[in-house]
Amino acid sequence: MEKQRENWGSRIGFVLAAAGSAVGLGNIWRFPYLTGENGGSAFILIYLVFVIFIGISVMIAEFTLGRNSGLATVGAIKSYSDRFTFVGAMGVLSAFLIMGFYPVVGGWALAYILESVTGLYSLTPDGIGDTFGAFITGGVQPVVWMLIFLAMNVLIVAKGIKGGIEKAAKVLMPTLFILLIFIAIRSLTLDGAGEGLAFIFRPDFSEVDGGTFLAALGQAFFSLSLGMGAMITYGSYLSKKENLVENAVIVTGLDVGVALLAGIAMFPAIFAFGMEPAQGPGLVFVVIPMVFAEMGGIGALFGIIFFIALAVAALTSSVSLMEVVVSYLIDQRDVQRKKAVYGTGVVMAIMAVLASLSLGVFGPLPVFNVGVFDLFDILSDKVFLGLGGMFIAIVTGWVVDKEVLRKEITNDGTVGFALFEAWHFLIKWIIPLAVAVVAIFGIIDIEETAVMLFGIAIVALLAVFSRKLH
Ligand code: PFF
Repeated sequence: MEKQRENWGSRIGFVLAAAGSAVGLGNIWRFPYLTGENGGSAFILIYLVFVIFIGISVMIAEFTLGRNSGLATVGAIKSYSDRFTFVGAMGVLSAFLIMGFYPVVGGWALAYILESVTGLYSLTPDGIGDTFGAFITGGVQPVVWMLIFLAMNVLIVAKGIKGGIEKAAKVLMPTLFILLIFIAIRSLTLDGAGEGLAFIFRPDFSEVDGGTFLAALGQAFFSLSLGMGAMITYGSYLSKKENLVENAVIVTGLDVGVALLAGIAMFPAIFAFGMEPAQGPGLVFVVIPMVFAEMGGIGALFGIIFFIALAVAALTSSVSLMEVVVSYLIDQRDVQRKKAVYGTGVVMAIMAVLASLSLGVFGPLPVFNVGVFDLFDILSDKVFLGLGGMFIAIVTGWVVDKEVLRKEITNDGTVGFALFEAWHFLIKWIIPLAVAVVAIFGIIDIEETAVMLFGIAIVALLAVFSRKLH
């Protein structure tokens, strides 16, 4: 009983939607602050190595599994191996975890569009810092903005692939590119911009440890939307005529391009104004408005443009996260799209309310010593995506027949993939090993060991009980 499966409306629609999923808060909010915290260029270099040797290969694998099976995450993995169904379940859980904090930051971006109009840039630097601190810890306001952001997701995903996600991405993604280039040019033409460029482009390995590698690997997976089946899901809607490798390279290139562009937009300005690069998650919301404030009248305009771009980027990513859960419910549980979207939205809203309040009203959780927001972040980014990527590589390399992969990737031999053998070797041996090594050294070096071990325990439980689950 074959169901008619929806397809992307056009090639450019798919590329923009997949790039829209990849390019998000990960590039513009997270990449710059991680770079700032991890000493700059060395972190970027390690991240780029992971993107090139692990990211592109895993993306090709995800597209291939999705299109070959014609099913979203759970169904796709299950169709190759019952034993590995838990990898799909990990993906759905990752989507919930990321959507537990992502809409909170998406809501901040929305709020800051309004803040840009209502005089944020006429405040002193201290005033701007205090405004952000008071806003995110304030309780009701950030929760309301988060709910507005989540409601936008619900509206888009409820409309389905062609009518909703693809249409939105087609308009919003090109807008984002243009906006960022605009801000980067302004930043580069400030006096003293050179120091910021040196910070992100002159390698300095003095601050690198196992934690840096884990952060860079987590960021590579997070930023490329890998390790949880988002790209399996998007690939499942892809036509048999598309060149998978070419698409993976384009999407990865766009994602890295935007991250570097965000870095180039921010660091020269941060240094030009003598500000501190290691601000943490507040970087975008504190330092950037300070920069705009120093620009005089025109700053407010840049501010509005910047936060619209941030909200747009966040939205085209979060819809793909929601789609992972929704397509699972449609494919595996026979739930109607609208019902699936509303149900998923309610659960995500509850999680995100807790995450938002954890920055103010609630303190850190006992045992873990971090708040709910950080718990969701660390679990998804440092545990689930990395291990998910590792298992996706293992399933592709060890479970799926090599000739099936070759046929799918080369569209039945009609398009060439000269590096097929090298790709298969990477997927089968190098990537699982590399991820395991990074994870082990990361656990030793980072402070949040309890959270990491808790996450690994959940993965182990899922692996053991997955057959009962499905
Ligand atoms: N790639 C997105 C970003 O960089 O913001 C986040 C993300 C989306 C992660 C979808 C994972 C995912 F499946």
